[in-house]
Amino acid sequence: MGKPFFCVLEGIDGSGKGTQLWLMERRMRKEGFEILATREPTQTLTGYFLKIVLKMGDIHPLTDCFLFAADRAEHVDKLILPALNENKVVLCERYLFSSIAYQTMKGVDETLIRSMHEFALMPDLTILIDVSPEVTMKRKEQVLHYEGEKFENVEFLTGVRKKYHELARRHHMVIVDGDRDEMVVHEEIWRIFKERYDAKSVQTDIARFVDEE
Ligand SMILES: Nc1ncnc2c1ncn2[C@@H]1O[C@H](COP(=O)(O)OP(=O)(O)OP(=O)(O)O)[C@@H](O)[C@H]1O
Ligand SMILES: [Mg+2]
Repeated sequence: MGKPFFCVLEGIDGSGKGTQLWLMERRMRKEGFEILATREPTQTLTGYFLKIVLKMGDIHPLTDCFLFAADRAEHVDKLILPALNENKVVLCERYLFSSIAYQTMKGVDETLIRSMHEFALMPDLTILIDVSPEVTMKRKEQVLHYEGEKFENVEFLTGVRKKYHELARRHHMVIVDGDRDEMVVHEEIWRIFKERYDAKSVQTDIARFVDEE
């Protein structure tokens, strides 16, 4: 029988989170892990609602914040916690740290964001896939029909990346250099995951999010 393990992949737009989530999901299924692979915004009704609102543009930063927090509350309650209670590994693309990294760049107070997330669970492992915005922009330009989003610019993403680095120090994230071949990145993420997963005690409770400052 497996044990509950909550693993989050973070990074700026286009850093390779989705690619690595898919590679991890495929590898884990092959190795017999029971897993939930999921992402934020979610594919629940609140996630769809959030995406529609985001597309409208000209949204107050606080509205963004509340909607992401609402979607996350549904995510934790309906998907993440039930999967952990079934001793599954949860692999999640973006989580609370995305809100902190992006929303503080839009001027929202970090303490306020944290206080909205009393319900949140603490990941067992957060991996920050670190790539410069210059590289991610080039990647995205190569994709046909790519439509840039409002805040996807180098200056903004440089700020987000800096904030991610600060959060990585405070919350013991593991930083992985994402500017390498995707299979090389995958091997490193897999090794880090396995090490942490094997070391985790079965008895450990599912932890609530705490500020580790
Ligand atoms: N290691 C890599 N080297 C080069 N290109 C990559 C690498 N990883 C992913 N890509 C490419 O970069 C683009 C963005 O990757 P992906 O969708 O996985 O990023 P993401 O972090 O999930 O982005 P988003 O924040 O938009 O969800 C894709 O076209 C993908 O094929
Ligand atoms: Mg993605």
